[in-house]
Amino acid sequence: MLTLGIETSCDETSASVVYAGESIRSNIILSQADHSKFGGVVPELASRAHVRNIIPIYKQALEEAQCQLEDIELISATMGPGLVGALLVGLSFAKGLAFATGKPFVPVHHIEGHLSANLLSHPELHPHHLTLIVSGGHTMLVEVKAFGEYRTIGQTKDDAAGEAFDKIAKLLGLGYPGGAQIDKLAKQGDPNFYKFPRPIIKDQSYQFSFSGLKTAVVLYVDKITEKEKSDSLPHICASFQEAVVDVLASKTVRAADELGVSHITLSGGVAANSRLRTVLSDRLKAKGKKLFYPEMSLCTDNAAMIASAGYYRYKKEGPGNLIANAFPYLPLEQIESEEKDT
Ligand code: KG4
Ligand code: ZN
Repeated sequence: MLTLGIETSCDETSASVVYAGESIRSNIILSQADHSKFGGVVPELASRAHVRNIIPIYKQALEEAQCQLEDIELISATMGPGLVGALLVGLSFAKGLAFATGKPFVPVHHIEGHLSANLLSHPELHPHHLTLIVSGGHTMLVEVKAFGEYRTIGQTKDDAAGEAFDKIAKLLGLGYPGGAQIDKLAKQGDPNFYKFPRPIIKDQSYQFSFSGLKTAVVLYVDKITEKEKSDSLPHICASFQEAVVDVLASKTVRAADELGVSHITLSGGVAANSRLRTVLSDRLKAKGKKLFYPEMSLCTDNAAMIASAGYYRYKKEGPGNLIANAFPYLPLEQIESEEKDT
């Protein structure tokens, strides 16, 4: 089944064609550059850019996949969570296509999309696994019992991991979004240069908290000179990153042990972080467990993951409703009831 996916939940306009949920024919991603000078995504600018870009990006996705709209058998689009104005652009476009052509339509939960990025990269993944979702808006540990059956066992009480990376990058003058920049600079730095706090690492819950760590970095940077800051930039990046990775990896390994699962996945933009991949993978390997993560281009927002999730949802429960709405806030466990209610 050839599925068209559309993603516009934040500042990426993306369209993709995927065959049978796992074979990517095209995945066009346009990252809006206009937000960096504002130090964060401006919702109204994002919506307007999606309106300008959605049709050319959709056409490019069909062209690269060497197919026509008539060949598409299923249409899917992100319904939430995300910026509501941005979501509405992609969702309305996809619903319009489905209505005009009579093709089935499936609305997709953005986080289920991130989870499905692992299905695109690793079809051998065990249906029952644990996933650590780390993006600009989410930090969650979720037990996946099977596709569509989720139990959230912990999440952040304040900032998301990606948000913490972005705020520290901004503080250090590295631009927005800065996660990848910190990752790059940290490669030349010493992770033990300064021991930043590991918030609630010993707490027996699976909750996370990053705002105290962020404050600790702000206070540290405040008391050094500009010269010291620029000389030790890679070390500060490496030390901050090490604290985030240590907390994420410790809780994930403990949860994997407790659930008795041997397959663990990383999903969301921060899954691209090289140190997180290495540390978590090594700690899990020592316990006879295996870490999977999506290939780089599928970690951050893209429509291939939405097409894949749309395909598996369709196989599970058939087409969704064309009056599906956009939701800025949408818990993962709530997907099925929202789809039926709308
Ligand atoms: O999943 P995503 O594209 O968008 C959301 O749904 O939020 O994630 C974007 C986040 C940003 O916070 C970005 O800084 C972070 O992922 N990110 C990284 C890396 N690449 C992207 N964080 C740390 N290391 C990276 N290599
Ligand atoms: Zn995302």
